[in-house]
Amino acid sequence: VSPPQLTIADQDYPKDSWTNVPASILSQYGRSLHTEPNHPLSITRKLIESRFQNFRHHNDLPGVVTVHQNFDSLGFTPDHPGRNRTDTYYINKDTLLRTHTSAHEVDIFHANTSDGWTLSADVYRRDAVDRSHYPIFHQMEGALTWDRSQYATPGACTEAIRQSFNHLPKHDLVVEDPNPTFHPERNPRQESHHSAAETEIIAAHLKRSLEDMVVTIFTAADKALAASGQNAAESKEPLKVRWVEAFFPHTSPSWEMEVWWRGTWLEVLGCGVIQQDLLIRAEQPNRIGWAFGLGLERLAMLLFGIPDIRLFWSRDARFLRQFDEEKGLRRFMPYSKHPAAPRDVAFWLPRGAEAEGETVIAGTEASTSSAPNAAGGRLAEPSVDTSTHPIFHENDLMEIVRNIAGDGVEDVRLIDDFVHKKKGRRSLCYRIEYRSLERTMTAEEVNGMHEKVCRELVEKFGVEIR
Ligand code: PHE
Repeated sequence: VSPPQLTIADQDYPKDSWTNVPASILSQYGRSLHTEPNHPLSITRKLIESRFQNFRHHNDLPGVVTVHQNFDSLGFTPDHPGRNRTDTYYINKDTLLRTHTSAHEVDIFHANTSDGWTLSADVYRRDAVDRSHYPIFHQMEGALTWDRSQYATPGACTEAIRQSFNHLPKHDLVVEDPNPTFHPERNPRQESHHSAAETEIIAAHLKRSLEDMVVTIFTAADKALAASGQNAAESKEPLKVRWVEAFFPHTSPSWEMEVWWRGTWLEVLGCGVIQQDLLIRAEQPNRIGWAFGLGLERLAMLLFGIPDIRLFWSRDARFLRQFDEEKGLRRFMPYSKHPAAPRDVAFWLPRGAEAEGETVIAGTEASTSSAPNAAGGRLAEPSVDTSTHPIFHENDLMEIVRNIAGDGVEDVRLIDDFVHKKKGRRSLCYRIEYRSLERTMTAEEVNGMHEKVCRELVEKFGVEIR
């Protein structure tokens, strides 16, 4: 019988039916990689902070927050899919591991200690297993606001933002930005709070600042690489970014920035004009401004050429000794790759769970991870017979595998999904790539882990292995 308490960083929390934080997550809690000296995530954070000189930088807010902070304070609707237990680690019904650094926005605006601030921290999401997703990653939140009450008229405030915009550094980055700043349906301006002129200038300021941030860090990277005699293979292609319309409950209009890298667009951040209701909630009704949230791993992988997100968690000297703040940026030199050991698991879902034959399974596409959990993907609605077992969700398998194989798993993906018409049952097959970054695993070891995975699927979800 498990104890009715969960202890995290010496603090006890009562468990309830919402509790779903596994031991594998708790064991990594509090490592604070983004402040570990010479860690690539810390180097990346500092590089970005250097672009935001007059900002205040917060780096040590603990990861346990309330449901209110993480969702309600930002205007997430009660039925927002990000709240699902399939996507979020709950400590109990009121407390969770933050899914994004935005969880602290209202508190920081409320404290009002600086116009501009950044906040870097670890965030937690139940998600796919592959080389760019890990259930813990790091975000940097940033915001800049102006206080209308400091100006004689709202127009004077707008003018001050324009002045500030005019002083932002110019750059020759290639930028694709095909859409109007706001669009009544797709990306609305907050009409009851902001004039069109305000929205336009805040948006322009936001976009230019973030473009400049990208230029700053990639230029620093190029210089450092040239100095160390290493040549970035990617640097032959000119740096290119694009702005894509987006939706976040706490900004409007909103965008994502993508960076062109090795032939694909890579999403690196979400941002927008801060919802005025949020600032009102923070008792700053006169402030207006912008906010962004970016994934530090994504940018660090680009800057250092790190091919697998698990490496950030490595305690292996072959990884850690490659990074040195004093010596400047170096490209990561992969050490030998150990062989992969693929194993498939095929199973029938319990009777009744095949009802939703067409259901999309969340996370089978390599989703980018800045939006808190897009569409949730249960394989059946709870209307089916769930008397004996909870309904299987893909993220449950991800977690079973992670708990058993730890960082010895590289990728889990669905390779087959069909409904047997006569039997009236649905079958799924997943391929699990076991591979350690640090050593070669024996076949017995892999088989042992795989058997455990199969057994747990049966025990927890009542599936029938084929
Ligand atoms: N919190 C958002 C996410 O994690 C990113 C974001 C931050 C978007 C701030 C807008 C403003 O997806």
